Amino acid sequence: MEVHYHDYLQLDKILNAQFPESDKQNLPAHDEMLFIVIHQAYELWFKQLHHEADSVVAIMAKPALNDNSPELQTVVHRLNRCVTILRVLVHQIDIMETMTPMDFLDFRDMLRPASGFQSWQFKELEAKLGLKFEQRHGKEYYTAQLKTEHVNIIKKAEGSKSLLQLLNSWLERMPFLKEGADEKFWIQYKEIYSGSLADAEKNNVSGFEELFEDNSLTADRSLSANASKAALFIMLYRGYPLLQLPFQLLNALLEIDEQLSSWRFRHINMVHRMIGTRIGTGGSTGKDYLKVAADKHYIYKEIAQLNSFLIERRKLPSLPAEIEKQLGFVAV
Ligand code: HEM
Repeated sequence: MEVHYHDYLQLDKILNAQFPESDKQNLPAHDEMLFIVIHQAYELWFKQLHHEADSVVAIMAKPALNDNSPELQTVVHRLNRCVTILRVLVHQIDIMETMTPMDFLDFRDMLRPASGFQSWQFKELEAKLGLKFEQRHGKEYYTAQLKTEHVNIIKKAEGSKSLLQLLNSWLERMPFLKEGADEKFWIQYKEIYSGSLADAEKNNVSGFEELFEDNSLTADRSLSANASKAALFIMLYRGYPLLQLPFQLLNALLEIDEQLSSWRFRHINMVHRMIGTRIGTGGSTGKDYLKVAADKHYIYKEIAQLNSFLIERRKLPSLPAEIEKQLGFVAV
């Protein structure tokens, strides 16, 4: 049978899935249609983000993924696609903000206790990317309003290897930690780094030791000392061909965090403008709750933190000729 646009896209289902509460209650509110469509569009994009994240996680979970393989290119490509989608999601708030607070009041009370807070896809995505239960603002509260089947989905994601955990294992496998970026290299690097600090920054040396010399993982720490060294090495020597893709991978993760955070802050400002300091339909303190969550829910903050330990290019220790060769296009 011929494929038809309408059937292929299941438009019957999608275009017949908008039922404003205000119509049901015979108190029509024009903007409720926009409110529903926007949220549905978000959920569809969340679905796509899951599709990308799942494929990236599957590739990163392979024990044999190596930096030279086409798979790493696929990972970077798909993560960059996630970044582009997230940019659109940030801008979609512009459309939501064409609704004024008075337009919203026309139907807001009819929605209680429904809220974006019950978006299990959003919370599942955070978990898949690497946000741990222990790092959540409000802990149990964040799933308190979800249906049991959705709590289970999130718990399953939290119990599986996240992209951040897989990144840790991948970084720990970096071959140059044994040769090139070995102990001798890091002693020299620490000396140069310490020498580059202003007096007011001298405390950073103990930060350096905690991060790169203590290999233990805690609830707040997902990157081991060896993984952190590998990531810093990639950032420092990204000019070498073999480290370009690994660098782009780290960069894409930082970009994802930045876009998620931009979304959170725009959402907070929209909430502030729309409902002031009233509590949310989901029953939280509204803006105040969202502000703390936005501060706490950076997923890749450990990668961002590594940037405190960079030194100027001209001060970089030169690498042994053998390692330089391995990092080049042709390993002779
Ligand atoms: C008029 C527009 C909106 C208002 C006034 C609003 C308000 C709120 C408030 C007050 C919360 C905190 C929980 C609560 O007590 O309800 C919240 C959470 C949330 N909202 Fe919205 N929201 C709006 C639009 C959206 C849109 C378009 C989305 C897209 C999916 C969305 C997604 C979320 C998510 C994911 C959370 C949970 C955030 C977290 O836990 O960090 N919201 N919203």
